[in-house]
Amino acid sequence: MADKKKKFYQLTLQERLQVLQDSGGLSKGETAAMSGAAGLTASQADHMIENAVGTFALPLGIAQHFLVNGKEILVPMAVEEPSVVAAASFMAKLVRAGGGFTASASAPEMIGQIQILDIDDINAAERRLEGATEELLALAAKADPLLVKLGGGPREITVRKIMESPIGPFLVLQLVMDVRDAMGANAINTALEQMTPAVERISGGRVLLRILSNLADRRLAKAACAIPVDALAFNDFSGADVRDRVIEAWAFAEADPYRAVTHNKGIMNGVDAVVIATGNDWRAVEAGAHAYAARSGRYTSLSRWSKGPKGELVGELEMPMAVGLVGGATKVHPSAAAAVKLMGVRTAAELAQVIVSVGLAQNLGALRALATEGIQRGHMALHARQVAIAAGAPEEWVAPIAEQLAQEKNIRVERALEILEEWRAR
Ligand code: MEV
Repeated sequence: MADKKKKFYQLTLQERLQVLQDSGGLSKGETAAMSGAAGLTASQADHMIENAVGTFALPLGIAQHFLVNGKEILVPMAVEEPSVVAAASFMAKLVRAGGGFTASASAPEMIGQIQILDIDDINAAERRLEGATEELLALAAKADPLLVKLGGGPREITVRKIMESPIGPFLVLQLVMDVRDAMGANAINTALEQMTPAVERISGGRVLLRILSNLADRRLAKAACAIPVDALAFNDFSGADVRDRVIEAWAFAEADPYRAVTHNKGIMNGVDAVVIATGNDWRAVEAGAHAYAARSGRYTSLSRWSKGPKGELVGELEMPMAVGLVGGATKVHPSAAAAVKLMGVRTAAELAQVIVSVGLAQNLGALRALATEGIQRGHMALHARQVAIAAGAPEEWVAPIAEQLAQEKNIRVERALEILEEWRAR
């Protein structure tokens, strides 16, 4: 049993795993999967990709204090960057002062595209396709009867004319499909292939690409928080000062793409870490996020920070969130399956809501630090630990060597090696 008086971060690795068993409802096998002792095996990897030679590990941490729609969530985060898990946990604690995160998700609708070339009369072909949407939707539904039975399936077809392109005009048929708890790539791509002969017959053209769009702007997740101003005060900074500085920092990202990219990268620090830990496709989520940030024609911040009616700091984040609980690596990867169980999410929409809450927390962590004392102080302490490890410090010396490096303000491997040598000589 882990010491109840200690905070999660003060426990040893073994004690933390015990907490996941005691209060996270995980079995011994599941915590072993999370610890890496019994995670994805090389032979499982061999079934997942080609030319497999093994697996590649990342640190896995558990962010604390998340309250999303009134539900306590332990959040698994796979990430190599120091400070990310700590910042998410700390900000989630601040957000609790305002009742936690309020999150929602739209229907899990993904978009698929069919490119149609070599059309004689583009307007006539467009009209014929538009007139045949019922027939085409029925064909798409046949591709996945189980999905339809579960309440998902094709929802909508639109036809778009691309008049200017390096190869001249062509048509794009877009299929919107509710993919329920899947990420959706397979469901969409299969449906598109199923529709192809009919699309060629009706349009009189030649179908080239049939592929999912990662601009999942029909599958959005939203998180919001409102932090009472008093809860924001720390050191010499008043709550009102912190709030106003965060809003000023956000305004920089809102107005300038060079800043917005970094600002959004900070959001993705949190988002990707959970997407990876749950075995989801982080490239898809990344691509969708940045395209969504540029939807107005100018790349801007994905989040928004403002002053609420009672002077509170209000944060909002909305972004596409194409994540699933079925298919992909989520079920196959033992650590991902344990991560999903730990979170207690039952649908892809719930998972999306947690992820976007973590993104918002991460964003607040970065803005609060950047707009007050700067991020280097916190970063350097953790960076110093990595430098000590890189220099080959034995486990019990990592913390004291890191402390010395930080005190000397000389956080370099060469200096860590010198200290190691001195200590060993003693
Ligand atoms: C570093 O990984 C992320 C930050 O650069 C985000 C930001 O600048 O908002 C700190």
